Amino acid sequence: MNATRAESIRLDQVRRQFGETVAVDRLTLEIPAGELVVLIGPSGCGKSTVLRMINRLIEPSSGRMFLGEEEITKSDPVKLRRRIGYVIQNVGLFPHQTVRENVATVPRLVGWSKAKANSRVDELMTLVGLEPSRYAHRYPHELSGGQRQRIGVARALAADPVVLLMDEPFSAVDPIVRARLQDEFLRLQGAVGKTIVFVTHDVDEAVRLGDRIAVLSEGGHLEQYGTPGQVLSHPANDFVADFVGSDRGIKRLAVTPIPVSNLRPLPAGAPQNAPSVTQTESLREALAALLEGDTGWVAVRPESPRPSDSALRPSGTGSKVVRGEPTAQPAVALPEGGTGSEQAALGMLTLDDIYTALRAAAA
Ligand SMILES: Nc1ncnc2c1ncn2[C@@H]1O[C@H](COP(=O)(O)OP(=O)(O)O)[C@@H](O)[C@H]1O
Ligand SMILES: [Mg+2]
Repeated sequence: MNATRAESIRLDQVRRQFGETVAVDRLTLEIPAGELVVLIGPSGCGKSTVLRMINRLIEPSSGRMFLGEEEITKSDPVKLRRRIGYVIQNVGLFPHQTVRENVATVPRLVGWSKAKANSRVDELMTLVGLEPSRYAHRYPHELSGGQRQRIGVARALAADPVVLLMDEPFSAVDPIVRARLQDEFLRLQGAVGKTIVFVTHDVDEAVRLGDRIAVLSEGGHLEQYGTPGQVLSHPANDFVADFVGSDRGIKRLAVTPIPVSNLRPLPAGAPQNAPSVTQTESLREALAALLEGDTGWVAVRPESPRPSDSALRPSGTGSKVVRGEPTAQPAVALPEGGTGSEQAALGMLTLDDIYTALRAAAA
């Protein structure tokens, strides 16, 4: 993958009216380069309209928008769209083209040679976890829903856009596939570092993926803009509190890191099969592991490299990657067989410690 190219997006008093309906009313929002910002809000609040204005599928009625320094409404829409990847719910792959042809669409349009486009397709398919030799020659109907979404993401990334707009890209797939796609997507973002505007109406998805969350109400009103932790621990008003749900305390577990520098020593004679998590997991996994076990505490292990991840993980990607680590390992994951390869735990957490850490994170 090339060096990251990402641009910031700035909306300044952007408004769009359809007849009597004000879909978006003077929205001002800044999305820093390289961040993943989630727009969330109830159906009809204007989320899709915002995305479509950014890539000029729809023109704003008033207001200004910037991609980096460039004013979006003054740029050539065709050139603009080549710099902006767009992924929508049902992907919109071309049914009579192979996966390879689909992914190569924009590179070919902008005049890349066939060889260059082909090697880009191979690179991207590998990045989204679909072996090119197995899948490149298939047609979209020969893929599962989750595989089609991955190809949609690969196609959107093909010409190395500076921004990715994603409109409920994972909402049509079942929950298990969706969770996998989210994990993979976080790792992908760790590798490519694009500016991403991601629309969803699913709070869990927003919390899981977003560096920041913009909570919108009808008419594209910005009710709150903050990190998942901020939105969950300090909802700005009743609308946000209602929208994120009365279980926001539980949701917050997932965005709160384990207090690694504040662990208790393991008790003497702790059982080998005590529940454990790695230090980069969240309090949510820690609590889940604790509840599954019968020790009343959970051990915290140092992170160990997992070779199975290496295909998707270039060296030196940011700390964001960590958040997306799948937690598919069993909760009790000390190596089996006592081969001497066990890593010493860093310490442990009790239920009280989890509670205390959660409270401290909200302060
Ligand atoms: N092309 C259109 N013509 C007329 N009304 C539209 C059009 N697109 C969206 N709207 C209206 O604008 C509002 C916001 O729509 P949309 O941006 O699709 O919301 P969301 O994506 O948050 O569900 C809705 O009331 C919708 O009916
Ligand atoms: Mg929509």
